[in-house]
Amino acid sequence: MLLQAGRLVSSLTVKSNGGPLSGVLRVPGDKSISHRALLMAGLAHGTSRITGLSSGLDVVATRKALEAFGVAVEPAGAPGAWNVTGGSRSEPGGVIDVGNSGTSIRLLSGWAASLDALSVLVGDDSISRRPMGRVVEPLSAMGAKLDGRSHATLPPLVVRGGHLHGVDYEVPVPSAQVKGAVLLAGLSAEGATTVREALATRAHTEEMLPLWGADVTVEHRSVTVRPSRLDACAFHVPGDPSQAAFWVVAACVTPGSDVTVEKVYLGRGRAGFVDVLQRMGANVEVADYDPLSSVGDLHASYGPLRATTVGGDEVPSLIDEIPVLAVAAALASGTTTFADAGELRHKESDRVASTVGALRAVGFQAEGRPDGLVVEGSAGRPARGGTVDPAGDHRVAMSMAVAALAASGPVVIQGWECVQTSYPSFEEDMARCRPL
Ligand code: S3P
Repeated sequence: MLLQAGRLVSSLTVKSNGGPLSGVLRVPGDKSISHRALLMAGLAHGTSRITGLSSGLDVVATRKALEAFGVAVEPAGAPGAWNVTGGSRSEPGGVIDVGNSGTSIRLLSGWAASLDALSVLVGDDSISRRPMGRVVEPLSAMGAKLDGRSHATLPPLVVRGGHLHGVDYEVPVPSAQVKGAVLLAGLSAEGATTVREALATRAHTEEMLPLWGADVTVEHRSVTVRPSRLDACAFHVPGDPSQAAFWVVAACVTPGSDVTVEKVYLGRGRAGFVDVLQRMGANVEVADYDPLSSVGDLHASYGPLRATTVGGDEVPSLIDEIPVLAVAAALASGTTTFADAGELRHKESDRVASTVGALRAVGFQAEGRPDGLVVEGSAGRPARGGTVDPAGDHRVAMSMAVAALAASGPVVIQGWECVQTSYPSFEEDMARCRPL
């Protein structure tokens, strides 16, 4: 589906002349947390009530996977509310299709590794190119039998699970998906399972597991899980910081804007983009932060931005926000470098190539590097407009919609339907803070 002649072009044409963004928004439930809530509830005895669940296709894929394993997942009245009755899983009758969702396939490989059954996990073309050796290696070390294309490094993945034993595993690439897969498998392994990471990644698995009753210990950069029985609980998914980042950057780069995004998860490993924007001189503040839930409001308003360097330890905490931070960098003064981010090349697209291509397509200057990108700031001169191919990557597509809001000419974003994977209500939220 191309939206050249569709809503997005015309609405962006209007919006690029439509003035500032303003208002108070709530973004959908966090995608990473939504996947984990479903998977944990699926292992737990009794019925867990989950509210605020993301409605994106990635999370739908995990929900459907649970159903294929015999877990009952039923709508519970309000939008985003689901009852999940877990505790007993059965061998799926067919293949599990995760669509475009890397988090689904990697977390499910660990979730399925503890079940004495055969599970076959497949996905779309993008998934079929994404590296899986990183989950195959530790899960095999735990005693599961995994195979896949290209010597068990690419999907489809075949998992023959059961009879696991604990391991002490140092994750070679910073990846919360790998950490999560190993910890989920470790819940039913014999003995303790420890995951060590050189760089801290998002902490959702270790933060959430104890809520379902798992025995988890966190020490600096290592997490240990011991065999545990999970029991149902009530869980609310907070707002997604990755989605909030689009409106925060949009407010920072669109003259006259002032936007608040309420009730966003800003815990360990997710809020790095706020620090980067503040370093760039942006007017971004956290308000009403609750340290118990790690939830707070983000308030952002327009102002001039200056270039910065992004790299090192902070990269895992903002890896998904690099495309939209690159839009901020393109409107800043000076040259911004994103380094130590080679993982970008293994996301839904090669995000170095797709982000650089998209920025150039609307008139900005950017160049790819093996481990990131360099963006030449325009010192506030808006994108001139153009046609963008986000390579089927939802985050690149939405980042370019943000650039379009501050553009001087129309921006056409091809293949806009990819946004359904994580943020189906993006256009509604755009209209909310920038009424036509
Ligand atoms: C995620 C971890 C990150 C992130 C992805 C979601 C998760 O991937 O990019 O969007 O939910 O654990 P990696 O584990 O590959 O770093």
